[in-house]
Amino acid sequence: MSKKGDKEAEEFEPDKGSEAQIAVHWREEGYFFPSAKFIGQANANDPSILERFSEKNYPECFKEYADLLTWDKYWHTTLDTSNAPFWKWFVGGRLNASYNCVDRHLKTDRNKAAIIWVPELEEQDTEVITYQELYCRVNEFAALLKGFCGVETGDVATFHLPMVPDLPVAMLACARLGVIHSQVFGGFSGSACGGRIADSKSKILVTIDGYYRNGELQDHKVKADEAVARALEDGVVVEKVLVFRRNPGEYASKSPMVEGRDFFVDEIMPEYKGKLVDPVSMPAEAPLFIMYSSGTTGKPKGCQHSTGGYLSYVTGTSKYYQDIHPNDTYWCAADIGWITGHSYIVYGPLALGTTTVMYEGIPTYPDAGRMWRIAERLGVTQFHTAPTTIRTLRKVGPNEPAKYNYHFKHMTTVGEPIEPDVWRWYHEVVGKGEAVIVDTWWQTENGGFLGSTLPALNAMKPGSCGPAVIGIFPEILDENGDVVEAGSGHAGNICIRNPWPGIFQTIWGDPDRFVKTYYEKYNKDPKSTDWHDWPYFANDGAMQAKDGYYRILGRVDDVINVSGHRLGTKELESAALMVEEVAEAAAVPVVDELRGHAVEMYIAVKPGVDPNVDVAAKVTKMIESEIGKIARPKNVWIVADMPKTRSGKIMRRVIASISNFTDVGDITTLANPDVVTDIKHYVESEKVAAGELPRDLSSAELQSILNFGSEE
Ligand code: WT7
Repeated sequence: MSKKGDKEAEEFEPDKGSEAQIAVHWREEGYFFPSAKFIGQANANDPSILERFSEKNYPECFKEYADLLTWDKYWHTTLDTSNAPFWKWFVGGRLNASYNCVDRHLKTDRNKAAIIWVPELEEQDTEVITYQELYCRVNEFAALLKGFCGVETGDVATFHLPMVPDLPVAMLACARLGVIHSQVFGGFSGSACGGRIADSKSKILVTIDGYYRNGELQDHKVKADEAVARALEDGVVVEKVLVFRRNPGEYASKSPMVEGRDFFVDEIMPEYKGKLVDPVSMPAEAPLFIMYSSGTTGKPKGCQHSTGGYLSYVTGTSKYYQDIHPNDTYWCAADIGWITGHSYIVYGPLALGTTTVMYEGIPTYPDAGRMWRIAERLGVTQFHTAPTTIRTLRKVGPNEPAKYNYHFKHMTTVGEPIEPDVWRWYHEVVGKGEAVIVDTWWQTENGGFLGSTLPALNAMKPGSCGPAVIGIFPEILDENGDVVEAGSGHAGNICIRNPWPGIFQTIWGDPDRFVKTYYEKYNKDPKSTDWHDWPYFANDGAMQAKDGYYRILGRVDDVINVSGHRLGTKELESAALMVEEVAEAAAVPVVDELRGHAVEMYIAVKPGVDPNVDVAAKVTKMIESEIGKIARPKNVWIVADMPKTRSGKIMRRVIASISNFTDVGDITTLANPDVVTDIKHYVESEKVAAGELPRDLSSAELQSILNFGSEE
């Protein structure tokens, strides 16, 4: 049984110096401890692992992760820093990711479930894909990609797929051929997908006719047409669109199949049935995939991940932090369209030869008990999700978990800070007080976890991700590059001092931006080939408590984290600016009960705009079609003018404060301080009228607003 620690509440006082750190006091939470039962069976329950991965054993310690894989050829250099900060891991080594995730398990585990897929409609059957079946499907699809599409090693293939088994099959088929996959989250719009196709210059798009969302069959193929058109605007011609079908023999879309371009996979597949394709032995440093994420500019960043380093890192962290054993039934309820799904639904679990669960739909369909029915029926042993889902499930079905007879040994939370109160519900009600929890902090760029407790060796503390994971050595730096004293509880920018195998290799096609965004700020010498001179700047604020645990305070750049997903303010603003009436646009985060943060837009219209035009509605529609429904603003405020600095920059932090009913702080340096009062009056009264009442923000919530906006 776990027992609650009665640690005395301590107060940590952050820096007073910077405006972003105004008197926020943290209440320290008590510790929770893993059960003896969990510790007894855990993969990492011997503290010697901490010694093995200590700094004096770096970088060779990562050999232990790499040795979890099967290599065609062993590497000669663990870490090559000669072209800093473009680190190279396991240089000279060769391997194939598809072989590691599929073929090598056949000998002992041919008939074990590799993937269990749960469709959203409860009346549809769960699909169990054994390792042998996965092997056949991956080979056949690889044969089709090669034979029918003519793709070659080093090409890029874009997928715009929802949570269907065809997605991991297609990923592994690409990996088998050494083709770089670029999966775009299925919920993104056709236009967002097209922009990513163009950026990666991919000539093929793999999609599906439709999928279920909240009980309804969505028309997804229509987005492929938009994507292809959008890519063409940027000069990239998509030659072939491969269309899976969600329900065999049916077609869920209204969009016609374009002759010579669009092909149903089931119609071309017969020719490739039973075909085998040898896995291509790839250099460790060959890119495995691209995953786009948002940043400060409007253009999404294609984070390029390697084969050997990435796969080693996700396999090692899956083993020790997700505590995956070969006979577990592991369920990460993220979407494979995000990095979490790539690393901790597909690559990590399959490399370890376990059973990984995929669920097509939303957590509350058809009711708040759905997740727990799945867990009970499949005998799920580990459960992994985001705070936004936990908040929603707590709200709609606080007593549901108790009705079902499932028992998790381990649970994960990822993607955004989790409020201690929500953490405790997760622990007591979802985990039934039995399951250990890891709060994992990391980013698309990182490949795998950076901050987390080692579940059998570290106590849990709600609201903190825990210490850095093994082999990761962070430091918190202030704006001048000085180190904030470790364990001081003072806030600053969290950086990772050392390279690690899961770190992305570059931004696809934009190495300068890679260096500028992540390394320039704290680089000690641009010519240095010593990794000590190149701290990785994560763009997150953080503080470290006396016990060494980190509390992540949120983004310090212009990124809004909605339900654990990153949206760039510039992307939102450029979408709004596509509405002809819009003169200026600013996007800010607003604390949201379920989603962590939601987006609010502030819009100034052009002079002479017809007052009958519903500009706010047009902005919302444009954002949905340019980015996707996930980015839909909670409110769009039409204002006469934006608060600006004397140099003309919009003060996003000021409007963010208004949106959150918090103090706007010092505005005397603004060019137009008067507009602040007007906007505040207008927005607050509208909000109150709509029932959006001010409430006291927690320290973490307040900090996320104070931190916001890198531009001032
Ligand atoms: C940003 C990265 C990592 C996969 C999913 C998100 C925030 C992430 C935590 C956590 C507090 C967190 C950070 C980070 N974040 N995990 N456990 N506690 N904040 O990947 O879309 O690249 O977002 O999410 O702000 O920078 P992503």
